[in-house]
Amino acid sequence: MSDTNIGNPEIVEVETDLLIIGGGMAACGCAYEAQRWAPDGMKVIMVDKAAVDRSGAVAQGLSAINTYIGDNKQEDYVKMVHADLMGITRDDLVFDVGRHVDESVELFEEWGLPIWKTKETEGKSLRDGGKPVRSGKWQIMINGESYKPIVAEAAKKAIGIENIYERVFIVKLLLDANDDNRIAGAVGFSVREDKIFVFKCKSALLAGGGAVNVFRPRSTGEGQGRTWYPVWNAGSTYSMAVEAGAEMTMMENRFVPARFKDGYGPVGAWFLLFKSKAMNAFGEDYMVKNKDMLKDFAPYDTAAVVPTCLRNHLMLKEMKDGFGPIFMDTPTAMKKLSETMTPKEVKHLEAEAWEDFLDMCIGQAAVWAGMNIRPEETASELMPTEPYLLGSHSGCCGIWVSGPEDVDSPAEWKWGYNRMTTVKGLFTAGDGVGASGHKFSSGSFAEGRIAGKNMVRFAQDNSSHQPAFKADINEISEEIYKPVRTYLEHKDKTTAEDINPHYILPRMFQMRLQKLMDEYVAGVSTYYQTNKVMLEKGLELLEMCKEDSAHLRAKDLHELLRAWENYHRVRTAEVHLRHILYREETRYPGFFYRADFPELDEENWHCFVNSRMDPDTGEWTMMKKDWVGLVDHGH
Ligand code: FAD
Ligand code: ADX
Repeated sequence: MSDTNIGNPEIVEVETDLLIIGGGMAACGCAYEAQRWAPDGMKVIMVDKAAVDRSGAVAQGLSAINTYIGDNKQEDYVKMVHADLMGITRDDLVFDVGRHVDESVELFEEWGLPIWKTKETEGKSLRDGGKPVRSGKWQIMINGESYKPIVAEAAKKAIGIENIYERVFIVKLLLDANDDNRIAGAVGFSVREDKIFVFKCKSALLAGGGAVNVFRPRSTGEGQGRTWYPVWNAGSTYSMAVEAGAEMTMMENRFVPARFKDGYGPVGAWFLLFKSKAMNAFGEDYMVKNKDMLKDFAPYDTAAVVPTCLRNHLMLKEMKDGFGPIFMDTPTAMKKLSETMTPKEVKHLEAEAWEDFLDMCIGQAAVWAGMNIRPEETASELMPTEPYLLGSHSGCCGIWVSGPEDVDSPAEWKWGYNRMTTVKGLFTAGDGVGASGHKFSSGSFAEGRIAGKNMVRFAQDNSSHQPAFKADINEISEEIYKPVRTYLEHKDKTTAEDINPHYILPRMFQMRLQKLMDEYVAGVSTYYQTNKVMLEKGLELLEMCKEDSAHLRAKDLHELLRAWENYHRVRTAEVHLRHILYREETRYPGFFYRADFPELDEENWHCFVNSRMDPDTGEWTMMKKDWVGLVDHGH
């Protein structure tokens, strides 16, 4: 078959009770816990598009665990998450993560993850009374370069390596022939072999993380591809949920992290552990200078920690006024810390400054080295990034799920099994669960465990159910391989095979999507601003993108992966756009602004925004859902 030897995929059918889609923190937690509860003979399978040891957001490692409750009160965790996400979160889901998360962190330590301890309790494990070194109220420091392999090993041991399918990209969920609001399986393809995999299951976890590269990134040219959020997570979770008819929530929310410029290095350790300050070009602390701007967003202005989007809001003011660049004042912070240190301790501090990045964001250490930056001598530029969609970090978009049954919450929040979506048997966790957030690595793993336990219960309660596919597998397989067929059919019609009127390259398609999202849907080029007219124009262009996705080409399996990733991105972009269009206020200044509704409107919009696309007709329903507080938030 000319210069490509793919095109005749073998169709491999696999039956399982539980299917875990994704191999990240939530998926590994789910595998670990499901196996603990699964009766003999119950099968659990995990499918990751990459290699579980180094996939997802924790792939490079981390230098902190950002959710560990320890001596704090659960209630304060619920309040912190609520305030940081501008008042619209599900207290039941957040509380549920909070009450289970520490146990997971203790397990990580048992499995070999080094957690920093205070001098007084050095050598003691958390379970034996060891006190973690806190960088912030909720965060603890770790030596986390090998965090992901450690967690992956536990998942592999739990369900058995033979039950883990790596390098298989899931394209679609499959609904049941006899109940079209019920999961029956999923279908995907190998990115290494000419094979399509069809999984049939009683229950599935959809945990493919959030979405990156939906918006034009700041990095171009030689830096292209460098982003903060991990490259694996292409919106598969949200797009597949939408196409299966699951109800989505808070998809208007996004995360725009302030990061070290060009390397996208995280700022948490610098702000919290090193007590560094950020300032404008003229040495002014914009958090002090612009503090009155916070009042516009009362009652969230008085939160114990200024909400993440409001911190951006104050920073952006400086940039827009022409007082950039913004600098992280690392020299002053290090000087202050070293005042009371011995020379040896100062050397150690300098090593930690580098290790923070070497542990989790090697690219930033490379930028420092390449640009002759010594953090003790040179301040580093900060920059708000392009937007990402996620539900486990400082963002809360995702799928609407049933919550814990033992919490005194509204009946509409617990219609089914804990962490089950509105599609029967379909669960989610981590970035997939909407209207919560600040779970981070530990909370996502804990939430995966919650889902895993409930998936076993669901499978047991439905043991006599025989899943059958509503869709025709041969038709779907053809659809999945269509970009390959398109390429083979048309590639010889031009002399330069990358320029061809009959197909579009996934790379070009991605650029088109990113450009339109950037320009119309509040990307960096408009300083995150948009309005109704821009959004409507954006939707029109997005519809054309969707139409043209039928002409994507794939000259090899790698491009086939890129083609379907971009299809998932378009679907994700659409639901994000529709939600922003629906919510007529500015709820998350610093993340995005509705210029036609520049104010926070607590009276009309202190509610969840949910949506559903009918999988048969493609019609959208947008709806408001009441917000209810389960602890006293003071409003
Ligand atoms: P992930 O862990 O990202 O896993 C997603 C998985 O889905 C991956 O295995 C991916 O390969 C797979 N996948 C995606 N699409 C498909 C598909 N179509 N088919 C099959 N598989 C698919 N937390 C902390 O506690 N401390 C920190 O210091 C910290 N730093 C962070 C730094 C960065 C840069 C980022 C992005 C996150 C950080 N976090 C941190 C947060 C934490 O990493 C996430 O909250 C957590 O990993 C989310 O878990 P998840 O399972 O939802 O997604
Ligand atoms: S990371 O996950 O990529 O490391 P980041 O560095 O932003 O993210 O945040 C790590 C933790 O520090 C998160 O819990 C975040 O909410 C918190 N954090 C970051 N910056 C600040 C700040 N200026 N003030 C308070 N908390 C912060």
